[in-house]
Amino acid sequence: MGAEQKTQFQIDKTKCIKCGKCINTCSGMVIEFGADGYPQMKEFERFGWRGCWRCQHCLAVCPVGAISIFGKKPEDSLPPPPKEMGEYLERLVTNRRSCRRFLDKNVDPGIITGILSAMAAAPTGGNAMGVEYTVIDDKNRVNEIRKAAYAKMDADAKRHIYTHSFSDFYYGKMKESEKTVRKGDLLFCGAPHLFIAHEKCTGKWAEDSKTNCHLAAAYFELLCNAHGLGTTIMSYSAEVLNELAPEARAMLNIPKDHYTGLIIGFGYPEIEYARGVQKDRSAKTHRWTQAHK
Ligand SMILES: Cc1cc2nc3c(=O)[nH]c(=O)nc-3n(C[C@H](O)[C@H](O)[C@H](O)COP(=O)(O)O)c2cc1C
Repeated sequence: MGAEQKTQFQIDKTKCIKCGKCINTCSGMVIEFGADGYPQMKEFERFGWRGCWRCQHCLAVCPVGAISIFGKKPEDSLPPPPKEMGEYLERLVTNRRSCRRFLDKNVDPGIITGILSAMAAAPTGGNAMGVEYTVIDDKNRVNEIRKAAYAKMDADAKRHIYTHSFSDFYYGKMKESEKTVRKGDLLFCGAPHLFIAHEKCTGKWAEDSKTNCHLAAAYFELLCNAHGLGTTIMSYSAEVLNELAPEARAMLNIPKDHYTGLIIGFGYPEIEYARGVQKDRSAKTHRWTQAHK
């Protein structure tokens, strides 16, 4: 099968202005000018480094919407964000807080669908897109997983068996916090829903796979906050599922050999914050900058 068939790469010659932007942005370097002066796709062996990256930059960059690839039409793409977005995003980042009190209510599935659809565009190393998302948007199912994880953790604690972060001291702290601020659930922060990015991590690109998961978690967290949802990035719950409670982890239906380093708890927040915090990390920012006159 030819490259243009494999990718369904199509140029609308009635629109194309032969500007060459698609050629200059093609990550896989598989687009070139044809003898007729219009872009065409070169033959390639396989997707990835030996051919098309499936990144769709050609479709995204074309100023006149002349390129279609993988059956995607340019008119179906979302437009770029408005200029004010930079300031809004700064506000979003400084105003997002880890949420540890949620309403006992399922989130509108339409909001979750919108977020997941944007998540498909989260970056992955080499655009390999091997990362998978598991979303539990039924609060009752999350409760079952929570119960199974706690049953195992509490039983093991009686024998002083813990995950790597816990000990008699920290288990005691956890139980103390659960009487007040953590409302009976330090592990899952009382979240009604869970999002887990996971990927099989093997071979040369194993570290990229973990990074893909972490990036997906960060994108998901911000998207949720942009929709007014509360989120918590959780390592304790992931740790307990991975190290202590395989039966609870199995309830997620995630393959055993997939990396699951973080879980994002999300839902409607019980607490609203009136303003952002003022963290100062200037001493930890190492900036080499040009001298200003
Ligand atoms: C890698 C990582 C793991 C975290 N694990 C947990 C966790 O298991 N439970 C929790 O309540 N918060 C967890 N957090 C949230 C942090 O504790 C939180 O970001 C920090 O307290 C600052 O609060 P803020 O997010 O409101 O700025 C985690 C954050 C990160 C980045």
